[in-house]
Amino acid sequence: MTSIWLVALASVAIIFLVKEFIKRRKLPPGPIRLPLIGNLHMFGENLHQDLYKIAKKHGPIMTIYFGLIPTIVASSPYAAQQFLKDHDQIFASRPYHAACYYIFYKQRNLIMGKYGPYWRHMRKLCTLQLLNNVKINSFQSMRKQEVQILVNFLIKAASNRDVVDLSAKLASLSANMACLMVIGKKYNNVDGDFKDMIQQTSHMAATPNLAELFPFLRFIDFQGSVLRMKQIAESCDEFLENVIDEHTRQYSSDQSKTSIDMVDTLMEIMQSGEAEFEFDRRHVKAILLDLLVASMDTSSTSIEWILSELLKHPNVMKKLQSELDNVFDQKGIVEEKDLKNLDYLNMVIKEGFRLHPVAPLLLPHESIEDCTLDGFQMPKGSRVLVNVWAIGRDPDVWREPEKFIPERFVESTIDVRGQNFQLLPFGSGRRSCPGLQLGLTIVHLVVAQLVHSFDWELPNGMMPNDINMTEKFGLVTARALPLMAIPIYRLHNK
Ligand code: HEM
Ligand SMILES: *[C@@H]1O[C@H](CO)[C@@H](O)[C@H](O)[C@H]1NC(C)=O
Repeated sequence: MTSIWLVALASVAIIFLVKEFIKRRKLPPGPIRLPLIGNLHMFGENLHQDLYKIAKKHGPIMTIYFGLIPTIVASSPYAAQQFLKDHDQIFASRPYHAACYYIFYKQRNLIMGKYGPYWRHMRKLCTLQLLNNVKINSFQSMRKQEVQILVNFLIKAASNRDVVDLSAKLASLSANMACLMVIGKKYNNVDGDFKDMIQQTSHMAATPNLAELFPFLRFIDFQGSVLRMKQIAESCDEFLENVIDEHTRQYSSDQSKTSIDMVDTLMEIMQSGEAEFEFDRRHVKAILLDLLVASMDTSSTSIEWILSELLKHPNVMKKLQSELDNVFDQKGIVEEKDLKNLDYLNMVIKEGFRLHPVAPLLLPHESIEDCTLDGFQMPKGSRVLVNVWAIGRDPDVWREPEKFIPERFVESTIDVRGQNFQLLPFGSGRRSCPGLQLGLTIVHLVVAQLVHSFDWELPNGMMPNDINMTEKFGLVTARALPLMAIPIYRLHNK
C-alpha cells in the first residue's frame, strides 16, 4: 500500500519538476546557480553594482536566482523599453513581499499593490487629487519657509565656520516638508517614535525576507520576523489612526482651517463618497503611509548626491552659481517660478540622476501573464528588476560614463521623465513615479538655493577628490558616509 503512495508521490514530484524545467528552459541566460541558494552567493552589499558586473558577462536581459525565485534583470535602454513600454501592462504588477504585506495593509497600497482595478483606482486618485500641479503648488510657500529655516541655520553656521552634516540637514528638511504636506505638522513635533517607525518600515521593506527567497518557508515564522513586522504594522496603524482622529476633530471644530494637507483632502474624498471604488479609513491610511515613505528620503538623497558631485567638481559649481546669479541676483531667495529656465541647473540635475538614481533597481515588477519577449519565454509571475544604475553607466550609451559632465546634455533632448530609456531615475510607464513633478520641484529648489547662497568648503583640508562616494544599497540608495562641509555665505557683499 505504502509503495503505491510512494510511486504516486514520486510521479507528482517528477511531473512538477518537468513542468518547472519546461517553464524555465526558455528563460534568459544567466550565471550558473547553486542548489537552493541560486545566485545569492554572488552578492555583496551593493546589489545593483554586482548585477551590473554580472550583466556585462551575461547580457542586458538575464536570469538571476534569488534563492529559488528566478528574477529577470534588464540592464540596457532597449531591455528597459521592452519591459516598461512595449510590454508595460504585462509587467505592471508587484511581487509578494512579506514586510509590505503586513505593513501596507496586505499590499493594498499604491506602491506595492498588485496590478488590477483596485491599484488603478488608487493610482488615479493619487495622481489626480494629491500629486497634481495645483496641489503641489499649494505647498509652495511651505517649502519656501522650510528652505529659509535651513538657510538661516547655515548662515549662522557660516559665521562660526562650523562643519555641517549636510546629509542629516537635508534628511530633516525633506522629512519636514513631507510631513507638513501629508499630515500637516512637522516631523520633530510628531508624537512617539515616528522617525523610528518609518525607518524600520523602510528597512523591512528593503530587506528580502528569507521566506520570500524560499517560498516553501512562507508559512514558517522565520526568526520571529513576521512577529516583528506585525508589531511595526501595528504601531504604524496606531499612529495613522491618531493622525486621522486629530484631523476629524479639527475639521469639525474649525471649518476655516487655512492649510489643507493631504489627510484633509483624503478625508473629504472619503466623506463625499466621490471615489469610484470602496474607499474607507483603511485606504486613507494605506495612501498616507505610501506618501510618507515615498517622499521622505527620495528627494533628500537625490539632493545629497547632486551636492556631493558639485563639491567634487568646483568648476561645475562656479558655472552653476553664475547662472543662478543672473536670475536671483540681489534677492537671495530662490523662487520656484524662476527655476524653469535655468538650463545649466537642469543639466546638473540630470547628470546627478544619471550617476545616482536613488532607486537603482526601481521597485520590483512582476508579470501578470506569460510573455514572449525578445525570443525568451517568461511565465506569469516572473519578477523583473530594471537596473537603471547600470543603464546610466552603459558605455554604449554614454561617453565617459564614470565622469560627471553636465555639458553632455547640451543640445540633447534626453530628459528624466520616462520618455528616454537611457535615463530613468523615476522609471517609466504605468508604474513610474507619480511624485515625479513634486520630487523634481524639491530637488531643483533646494539645490539652487544652497548653491546660490553659499560657497562650500571641505573640512580638515580635504580635497574635492577625497570625497568618498561609496554607496549604501537600500530601498533608497544613499551615501555610505555623510556629506560634511563648511558653508560660506556668499551674498552679503553683493
Ligand atoms: C526625487 C525624488 C523621487 C524619485 C527619484 C522617485 C523615484 C521613484 C521610482 C524609481 C519609483 C518606482 C518605479 C518603478 O517601479 O518602475 C517610484 C515609485 C513611486 N513613487 Fe517616487 N520618487 C521620488 C519622489 C516621490 C514623491 C515625492 C512621491 C509622493 C509624495 C513619490 C511617490 C511614489 C509612489 C506612490 C510610487 C509607486 C507607484 C506605483 O507603484 O504605481 N515619489 N518613485
Ligand atoms: C569610503 O567609505 C567606505 C564605506 O565606509 C569605506 O569602506 C572605504 O574604505 C572608503 N574609501 C576610502 C578611499 O576612504
